[in-house]
Amino acid sequence: KLDSAVKEIEDLFEVNDEFLLKATDEFINSMNNGLSHLSSTRQYMPMIPTFVTSIPTGKEKGLYLAGDLGGTNFRVCSVDLKGDHTYDLKQSKFEVPKDLMKGSTSDALFSYLASKVKDFLKEHHSDYDSDERLKLGFTFSFPVNQTALNKGTLIRWTKGFDIPDCVDKDIIELFQSHIDLLESKVEVVALANDTVGTLLSRAYTNNDEESNAHTIVGSIFGTGTNGAYFEQLDNIPKLRSLDVPKGSTGMVINTEWGSFDNELKVLPRTKYDDLIDSETFNKGYHLFEKRVSGMFLGELLRVTLLDLFDKGLLFTDLYKARGGSLPHRLAEQWQLNSEVLSYLEIDDSTDLKMSQLVLENHLRLPTSKQERIVIQRLTRAISKRAAYLSAIPLAAIVKRVKPQYENDNKDLEFGCDGSVVEFYPGFQQNILKAIDIINPLKGTNKKIHLRIAKDGSGVGAALCASTSK
Ligand code: BG6
Ligand code: GLC
Repeated sequence: KLDSAVKEIEDLFEVNDEFLLKATDEFINSMNNGLSHLSSTRQYMPMIPTFVTSIPTGKEKGLYLAGDLGGTNFRVCSVDLKGDHTYDLKQSKFEVPKDLMKGSTSDALFSYLASKVKDFLKEHHSDYDSDERLKLGFTFSFPVNQTALNKGTLIRWTKGFDIPDCVDKDIIELFQSHIDLLESKVEVVALANDTVGTLLSRAYTNNDEESNAHTIVGSIFGTGTNGAYFEQLDNIPKLRSLDVPKGSTGMVINTEWGSFDNELKVLPRTKYDDLIDSETFNKGYHLFEKRVSGMFLGELLRVTLLDLFDKGLLFTDLYKARGGSLPHRLAEQWQLNSEVLSYLEIDDSTDLKMSQLVLENHLRLPTSKQERIVIQRLTRAISKRAAYLSAIPLAAIVKRVKPQYENDNKDLEFGCDGSVVEFYPGFQQNILKAIDIINPLKGTNKKIHLRIAKDGSGVGAALCASTSK
């Protein structure tokens, strides 16, 4: 009985070739719709113009600061771009206190961020004595309605952040005002999403003469997921009403693909997905992200396991032995971290002994061998679906931009960052397998490469800052 119940869940998480092709076409439709509509309702993928109008060549130079708020950490860096695809980087990382992420105020959050910038300068640049303010690029990885390189209001929070009074406020103004209160000699000149940073930094470090590949996407597969790419101005109808910098031919677009198909026209939908969506602050939004990114993989495993428990098929003895309870990391929302799945995924030890230790250490969950086999099967089903879904936006963007590269013989590459793509075993390989199935470069001799972009957001924000006048 247990085996057939597990098989049923595995089947629910299976995605087939036909679906991948159909979803890729739907993604291209969603890109077009998003590029035509200014509205930020859940119906449209945001497709946010970023006011970054060129891709770095690797020759950019100068010293810039970068701030990076993306999820769990706030990073402050200084980046010295050398102009030869290389840079020097100094960096400090701070874990954002949980009570600032939820239910606090914009003043509390931004005064914290500004104080960390001040501390960083004191530690690393106390000798800076020019009268000119240092330029800072701010990577702020949430959906922002951007109207200039240095202007943008928060549309909504994602990834578990919830500070209501920030919504609709200008993020640069907030940050600058708190930096000024602390009298730091810093000017926030650019606002960038982490995907934009990743695209720019990978393009800067990629010497395409050596790698023989053009960087076409910056993407994140971490706590959240998203991507950015360079679009021709003619294809961005909604930009016409805004102030496009003179002489530009295209602009980097932050797709916010986490919100691909919020209406669930093509995406797979299980009762587990619905349950997870109902637990979040941004219910009905970012439904693609909720099937793909690190914040949700552990939660998906947790709710599938609890379903089997509710059916009386798993953990029944444990429940009795504990006098009618389950370990809290299994019983409570968001307590099962995707890092745990990454150990379970590849366990090939006898009787899954390694998983046994991991489950005991991380979840305080004693298991039988049969239970561990079930947990591993579910883990693999969940992560494979996530990786296969991840291929959809990447392949769609390849299809969209490939005409631009028809007349050269270079390959195409994605710059990627984020804990899942970097560390989750087999995730990259599964993305590439699914891209092969979609085969977006059919009819050409080109190949697709997936590259991890190190220091993406820091270097990318510095590059954004370097384009400010
Ligand atoms: C970091 C970047 O490397 O990766 C951040 O500096 C980005 O800007 C982050 O948001 C994404 O990964 P994760 O796993 O921390 O969500
Ligand atoms: C979420 C955010 C997006 C960010 C992504 C990756 O999807 O909305 O802005 O790029 O997470 O960090």
